Amino acid sequence: MTDYKNPNLILETAKVEPGEITWRSPANLAIVKYWGKHGVQMPKNPSLSLTLSSSFTETLLEYRPRETSESGISLEFFFHQESNEPFRERLLKYLESVADIFPFLRQLDLTIYSGNSFPHSAGIASSASAMSALALCLTSLEHELFETLDDDAAFDQKASYVARLGSGSACRSIFPKAALWGEMGEVKGSSDLFAVPMAEHVHAVFANMHDDILLASTSVKHISSRAGHGLMETHPFAEARYADAKRNLSRLIPALRSGDLEEFGRIAENEALTLHGLMMSSNPSYVLLKPNTLEMIERLRHYRQETKHPVYFSLDAGPNLHLLYPANIIHEVRGFIEDELKPLCEDESYLEDWAGDGPVQV
Ligand code: DP6
Repeated sequence: MTDYKNPNLILETAKVEPGEITWRSPANLAIVKYWGKHGVQMPKNPSLSLTLSSSFTETLLEYRPRETSESGISLEFFFHQESNEPFRERLLKYLESVADIFPFLRQLDLTIYSGNSFPHSAGIASSASAMSALALCLTSLEHELFETLDDDAAFDQKASYVARLGSGSACRSIFPKAALWGEMGEVKGSSDLFAVPMAEHVHAVFANMHDDILLASTSVKHISSRAGHGLMETHPFAEARYADAKRNLSRLIPALRSGDLEEFGRIAENEALTLHGLMMSSNPSYVLLKPNTLEMIERLRHYRQETKHPVYFSLDAGPNLHLLYPANIIHEVRGFIEDELKPLCEDESYLEDWAGDGPVQV
């Protein structure tokens, strides 16, 4: 089993010039959800997501040969230009956890500057974009210092593996349009250790899918995804859930290939409500949906019935509604959002996003 540990990646520090690397990496929206994990960041079921575009994290990694010879990793961290100690501690722990993969990290002084394109309080899962951006910086740094990763596919696979160790969903953000994480017989090369690209298996109608994010509430959620995954360990419905996710994925993949919007939408909505159903039926239970989320779902389903437009919803681990629809009905759907959904959003605000081309080195 690949674990990417490589004790040979050690620098002759006298020869290292200071430098910097910047990556911009997007969030993603899981259609079939990852909810429940085991071992070291291994998923209980495979998941598939659309890679987003306008919701991204940009991370700049500065490095220079280390001045002192302490054993821990040397890190300064700035979020939106301000130092942030809780984030720094979390990142330091993460960097220590990948120091067997990138042993040269201990030989450098590192400074990370990071920022999100979306409002910090928007309640958008930022761990996928943040951890994928950082994993890409680390993987690029290895390549810059050792010229080890000339092959693009090998680079992406390693970046995805390293992103997974920071946050499971982050491993899917590495790839354009859509990605699958988790071993699945039908998809050759799929793995629990990293995500694989799915763009080639996606019909044009999904490659340009819109995902407008309706902000039902922007307050910070009171329970982390990590804790939610933990509650699945004793969840009475856990085994049925993992089987259901696999079934949904087996149906989603052919629907993505053929452009079957109706099947796509049925699965997306089922997965979203199942995720929240699992939260509501765990012990202790919790509810992240807001009354306005439910009101929006009702209005959306009514609109769909009336107009027959293929517009569907999904949810992340939060109250904000993701509206999924193909590009050719944008004018109609935006009109509906403006008239009927926007008034239900906090500060009447929503984010416009769509399936994107994946991370870019800036
Ligand atoms: C509901 O990837 O945030 O968004 O691995 O503990 O960092 P950790 O969890 P995380 O969980 C994401 C859960 C989800 C579904 C999904 O993205 O698949």
